[in-house]
Amino acid sequence: MDVFEAIKNRRSVRKYKPELVPKDLVQKILEAAVRAPSASNIQPWNFIVIKDRKVLDMVRKISPGYFGDAPLAILVCSDKERAYKLGGELGRDYLTVADCALAVQNMLLAAYASGLGTCIVKSFSSTAIKHILEIPDGIEPELLVIVGYPDQSPKPPLRRPLQEIAYLNRYGEKYFEK
Ligand SMILES: Cc1cc2nc3c(=O)[nH]c(=O)nc-3n(C[C@H](O)[C@H](O)[C@H](O)COP(=O)(O)O)c2cc1C
Repeated sequence: MDVFEAIKNRRSVRKYKPELVPKDLVQKILEAAVRAPSASNIQPWNFIVIKDRKVLDMVRKISPGYFGDAPLAILVCSDKERAYKLGGELGRDYLTVADCALAVQNMLLAAYASGLGTCIVKSFSSTAIKHILEIPDGIEPELLVIVGYPDQSPKPPLRRPLQEIAYLNRYGEKYFEK
């Protein structure tokens, strides 16, 4: 699949079929994640693949932004200790978030190109998810990626027009003419 086609047509999916996600596709999604750019190549990420129905249900309960009943979710965490050791305060406080977000976008596109639907969920209790998944101190849950076969085709949400947000050489000078 052409990369721009995937970028353009991927949607956040909030209704899923019960069909399980094959192991090779989970691996493909994770391989895509770790190929994302990473500041100083620190690669501060960890991935927790959640397949156990009981664990998924527990995570759902503490995540108001978690919709649908997908058979899989992947929690992307950042290793704050590794990031601090290799990248100082900037690494720990900012670059980890940027790196994990880039990994997540790769995951969404790889999943879409494999016929899967996804949705990022940030609306969860960090304390509760750390407890449920036995995540140690120094490891921070960043984004949860819900994965499954889509049972809906969401309409593309409106995007702000480029004419409004793209500038040339200085802030405020429109890049695109009307
Ligand atoms: C950082 C981040 C956090 C998000 N958190 C949630 C969430 O908790 N629950 C949810 O349903 N969608 C969440 N989303 C998905 C957005 O609502 C969605 O990307 C946006 O509405 C645009 O729709 P699209 O993904 O179909 O293009 C999140 C997206 C991002 C980037």
